Amino acid sequence: MGKGAAGGEKKEHLYKILVIGELGTGKTSIIKRYVHQFFSQHYRATIGVDFALKVLNWDADTIVRLQLWDIAGQERFGNMTRVYYKEAVGAFIVFDLTRASTFDAVTKWKNDLDLKVQLPDGRPVPCVLLANKCDQPKEGLMNNTSQIDDFCKEKGFTGWFETSAKENINIDEASRFLVTQVLENDKAMKSDDAAKDKDVRTLDDSGAHERSEKKGCCS
Ligand code: GTP
Ligand code: MG
Repeated sequence: MGKGAAGGEKKEHLYKILVIGELGTGKTSIIKRYVHQFFSQHYRATIGVDFALKVLNWDADTIVRLQLWDIAGQERFGNMTRVYYKEAVGAFIVFDLTRASTFDAVTKWKNDLDLKVQLPDGRPVPCVLLANKCDQPKEGLMNNTSQIDDFCKEKGFTGWFETSAKENINIDEASRFLVTQVLENDKAMKSDDAAKDKDVRTLDDSGAHERSEKKGCCS
């Protein structure tokens, strides 16, 4: 462990983050851009799952390690997603804004995710929608952004971003947005655990942690 700005120990977090969505939407490209500052036009479909690690110096005394799980689009038709999703604390669902069919599949990915993984306290994992390839001409569906806002609220996305792996647009921003929620959830669950420990010791049955559980994560 390193030393923080004030000379104290740095806090380190390791978080498993999923990147899912239809074939060819740009999941691997987004991760390559984010982790290796690299982009290629060449398409090579991911088989099964790939991994990447991104280390963020979050603030003076916090290091965040993101273990990114790059899941092949074709896995939606397989039965491995339950295994891949295990213990994830956040997710991106990616669609290609030049192909409406990839947007139509977003709901299926979100349902699959919520069915197969939850946070330790039972809430859905925070999930951000990425409308990728925004460097390209859009296919109708992106002309009305308030419609996407409504869609996200209805489906339980915490937010959405137009991104481009090619031009490096909004990828850092989207990640920062998701990690903020992951850190908040982590903190809430830890303080919840501490409150429960205290309840056990004092036999306090005030229901304090039940109230904090109802706060929810979604905007
Ligand atoms: P699977 O592994 O099959 O699920 O696909 P994927 O989602 O990982 O897609 P991948 O990153 O391999 O990208 C598919 C194709 O889209 C590649 O040819 C990329 O070069 C291209 N692509 C990805 N992101 C962008 C982008 O932001 N803009 C443009 N113009 N092309 C992109
Ligand atoms: Mg891929």
